[in-house]
Amino acid sequence: MSELKSFFFEKDTLFILDQRKLPFEEVYFDAKNIKDVAYAIKEMLVRGAPAIGCVAAYGFMMGIKEGLSVDESYSILYHTRPTAVNLVWALDRMKKAYAQGKDLLQEAKKIEQEDVETNLKMAKHGASLIAGKSVVLTHCNTGALATAGIGTALGVIKELHKQDKIDYVLVDETRPYLQGARLTAFELLKANIPYKIIVDSSAPFIISKGIVKAVFVGADRIASNGDTANKIGTFMLSLACKAYNVPFYVVAPTSTIDFNAKSFEDIPIEERKKEEVLTCKGTFIAPENSDAINYSFDITPAQNISAIITEKGVAYYPYKESLQRFKE
Ligand code: MRU
Repeated sequence: MSELKSFFFEKDTLFILDQRKLPFEEVYFDAKNIKDVAYAIKEMLVRGAPAIGCVAAYGFMMGIKEGLSVDESYSILYHTRPTAVNLVWALDRMKKAYAQGKDLLQEAKKIEQEDVETNLKMAKHGASLIAGKSVVLTHCNTGALATAGIGTALGVIKELHKQDKIDYVLVDETRPYLQGARLTAFELLKANIPYKIIVDSSAPFIISKGIVKAVFVGADRIASNGDTANKIGTFMLSLACKAYNVPFYVVAPTSTIDFNAKSFEDIPIEERKKEEVLTCKGTFIAPENSDAINYSFDITPAQNISAIITEKGVAYYPYKESLQRFKE
């Protein structure tokens, strides 16, 4: 089990590490009911697709315990963040468990434990794709803070470090929420893995210099043809990798594959408030009444992805066929 816990359940309370305060303060938010959990997801105290799914499962259990109906509990959580499909996956699973008369707390714990194990399997599959000491690049935060375990893309990087295959990690700062600069750097520092933070827009230039052996990113939703929604800025990385022949890997559990989505057109992209772009730590960094566009995710077309690494194995293009074997 990872020592850094983005959330844990104890004595009727879900303790959620408030990631808005990282890396400066490690403070847990006490979620005592479903509304608290919905707030924590919406306001991004907890974020990262697998972590959102786990936390939502506990929230659903709390809603039922509070006497809300299945539909009410489902809907309160469903509307918190639209792109991460793990949220829907976890809610559907909890709904099914309820219908089967299962213990909901045990089911939520099971979802959390499975995520821990899934992370370890992905880490092994991903690390086997790299030979020799390498500089790798990653985007956003896909580690312990985004999952219940060691992480998805960052889990692979942690495993590579264990195998002595990491020279250093290039960390995209990930504007505007700075998941890279604040959260990934925080995790890598704790794990003693060497890293350098770069501004997002410098990544294609650095890739063009031939320094980067591979790029590892996570995913919020993968359509059945392999089109992948991930943190804004991922698409431009995939373009640079394609131009300079650098492997571009997506690392995600099979719970992130939305087999109901045929392609990118079926993936909802979250747009967040413009203040996230216009301000930094509450201070305006642009003229106050500026307008802004704040897409939280973008789409990387399937053909730009060298491989999709899951707990069940590695899939290659064309994904329409290769992902099918992961369908339950
Ligand atoms: O908006 P966020 O921080 O929830 O976005 C997170 C990402 O885009 C991650 O890359 C993705 O959820 C995979 S996390 C293991």
